[in-house]
Parts: sequence; structure tokens; C-alpha cells
Amino acid sequence: MAKIEINLDEIPEGKSVTFKWRGKPLFVRHRTDSEIETENAVDLASLRDPETDNDRVVNPKYLVLIGVCTHLGCVPLADAGDFGGYYCPCHGSHYDGSGRIRKGPAPLNLEVPEYSFPQDGLLVVG
Ligand code: FES
Repeated sequence: MAKIEINLDEIPEGKSVTFKWRGKPLFVRHRTDSEIETENAVDLASLRDPETDNDRVVNPKYLVLIGVCTHLGCVPLADAGDFGGYYCPCHGSHYDGSGRIRKGPAPLNLEVPEYSFPQDGLLVVG
């Protein structure tokens, strides 16, 4: 299946849920207002792969990521690491609540796939 439909009611606020899409893990995180504020306040100059949070989301409430570490391809753990996002245990890469690399060997932010919200409460990835 090229596309996956996700009912957003299944993802409580403050949680990241993992789906499978095109053979890869897909992370969907329902962010709290405070998480969104934190990510918007990050100084771009401090980032290895500088991208604003706004450039990485369609609706700031939902973060949608390919769950593959950009170092050597392990699957990061959700709600882990030093930056409120994801942590890759293979070699210690820390990603923030926008999926941006903040510490460790990974060179790039977690990839954001193509997606849309065709109607309220529905996410379509692909
Ligand atoms: Fe994730 Fe190396 S594969 S830190």
C-alpha cells in the first residue's frame, strides 16, 4: 500500500504512536502546546541541520516522521533522549520534539514524509 490512513483519535495528546508504512516505522506524535512552544523557541544557530519547526509540520499539533535514524538506520525510541523527542540507542543520537538532530552522530533530522489532513481527524501519509 502506497498510502496509510490514520485516525488521529487513536493518538492521545502528549503521545507518539508508531505505525508501519512502506516497510518502515512511521512516528506520529500528538504534541502538547508546551511541546510546540519549546520547539518554536529553539535557536536555529544551535542546530546541526537547521530547520524551523514550522517547516517540518503541516499542523503543529501533529509531528509526522519516518522512524529511521539518519546515522546508520536504527529505529529510535519515542519519548526518550535529552531533547523531548526520540533517542537512537545504537550510537546515541538524540532528536528533539520536532525530530531534529540535537546530539550524537546522526548528520540529519528525521525525515518528514509527504502527508495531508483531508478531513478533520484523518491523516493520510504517502
Ligand atoms: Fe542511530 Fe547510529 S544508527 S545513532
